[in-house]
Amino acid sequence: MGRTVRIAPSILSADFARLAEEVSRVEAAGADWLHIDVMDGHFVPNLTVGPPIVDALRKVTTLPLDVHLMMTNPDAFIVEFAEAGADYLTVHVETCPHLHRTVQSIKERGVKAGVTLNPATPAVTLSEIVRDADLILIMSVNPGFGGQKFIPSSLQKIAEVRGLIDRTRSHALLEVDGGVKPDNADAILAAGADVLVAGSAVFSGDDYAAAITALRAGHAPAARTARIAATR
Ligand code: DX5
Ligand code: ZN
Repeated sequence: MGRTVRIAPSILSADFARLAEEVSRVEAAGADWLHIDVMDGHFVPNLTVGPPIVDALRKVTTLPLDVHLMMTNPDAFIVEFAEAGADYLTVHVETCPHLHRTVQSIKERGVKAGVTLNPATPAVTLSEIVRDADLILIMSVNPGFGGQKFIPSSLQKIAEVRGLIDRTRSHALLEVDGGVKPDNADAILAAGADVLVAGSAVFSGDDYAAAITALRAGHAPAARTARIAATR
């Protein structure tokens, strides 16, 4: 396949009282990006962080900041998030009636534009924007909370969107978010993902490096051992 796998730990599952320390731990553990979940209590039933946290994180890490905007009217905050230092700003198709304009205005700020969709939103909603996007994010849980179970039908959607990206020769990276674990990473990567977001899979254990390595390898260490044994 030869595709580069990127792992983006989601700080939603980190210890917010020790955020800088958590970020330097995942950075040292081999994270490629840092995923920041912005929730507005309106589009999704939870409240999290805004531009001040992006700004604070920008000062303590060199990792690309991958900001996922789960909010109504993201257009009103593009400038603030861009100035705070976001590298990627990802908006939901469900919140953007003028998606093309939103994507262009993110890019005009020198930020990479991501487009995402909820589990029940069909992949076809991406067809007119895929060539303009720098990132397509497939939500594999209903957004709002960490620690939910991966929705199995997401695999088919990932493969479908991989096909769309390749067919249209879009340069967009394909990211998957929600319920990503070492034991399903293999299938998600095989379906065509480039970037895996992982919150609880990274932050719920003590060994962040082991979790990131297992995700990148596409399987849990035990599964790998079994597979190697089976080939002997
Ligand atoms: C869910 C968020 C995710 C979340 C993933 O609404 O967008 O980024 O943090 O958490 P896990 O990996 O625990 O499902
Ligand atoms: Zn997210």
